[in-house]
Amino acid sequence: MNSKTKYVIGNWKMEPRTAVEARALFLSIKKQSSRIKNTSIIICPPAIFLGDLQMAHSGNKISIGAQNVFWENPSSGRGAFTGEISANQLIDSSVEYVIVGHSERRALGETNEIVAEKLHTIVEAKLTPILCIGERLRDEEGEYLSFIKEQIETALRDVPHNKIKNIIIAYEPVWAIGRGDDAMGPKDMHEVSLYIHKILVSMFGKKIASGVDVVYGGSVERSNAEELIKGGEISGFLVGHASLYADHFIDIVKIVDNS
Ligand code: PGA
Repeated sequence: MNSKTKYVIGNWKMEPRTAVEARALFLSIKKQSSRIKNTSIIICPPAIFLGDLQMAHSGNKISIGAQNVFWENPSSGRGAFTGEISANQLIDSSVEYVIVGHSERRALGETNEIVAEKLHTIVEAKLTPILCIGERLRDEEGEYLSFIKEQIETALRDVPHNKIKNIIIAYEPVWAIGRGDDAMGPKDMHEVSLYIHKILVSMFGKKIASGVDVVYGGSVERSNAEELIKGGEISGFLVGHASLYADHFIDIVKIVDNS
């Protein structure tokens, strides 16, 4: 693995149901993570729970991530944008990372262009983007590779070269998300990770490209994490449903930490 840093990112999506449950889940993960040495744990709750996690977060090395941000970053960090949350407001809630381009948001209308705008905002605000990319389906002709290429090229096109190494790319094939039993195999993962690297090299050169961390997401479980991390040439995982069970999530973190 090229990378020095390893990550396990929990994407809670629209879970759990209440702030009390969110705090309890976070505290349980925090308690069980005290022996983790080499892996950055990032928890991305729904925005409404960011304040609750911020309170539970003190003195801990778990980082907080957001699942979304508004694409415009007015210098004041505020404005007439009903329903939106600015990068400055996220920073005020101790957020350090932001998921951008998740397939579930793309399905709601987020285009490659919007993802590029948001990515720019995140980088400008000195937050770390977790850029999600991934094909909806696999085809035998290999069209899915062009799909991935376009997602990466559009998203990164306006990012200054000296900021590229701060980006985490989460490869999440849509067909593998939320299945429970159907994650991608390590061999295919390895192939895509090389392909992503090749795209980055052609855009930014070898040195910058080798600084970008690629994680995998899509039905990562404690039962398949070891096989994926060993064979996949990746820096960690973006975990959805398994991140809602503290003991499952921590088992995945331990596997990455010991890899
Ligand atoms: P999953 O979700 O682990 O439930 O497949 C991953 C994601 O959508 O980020």
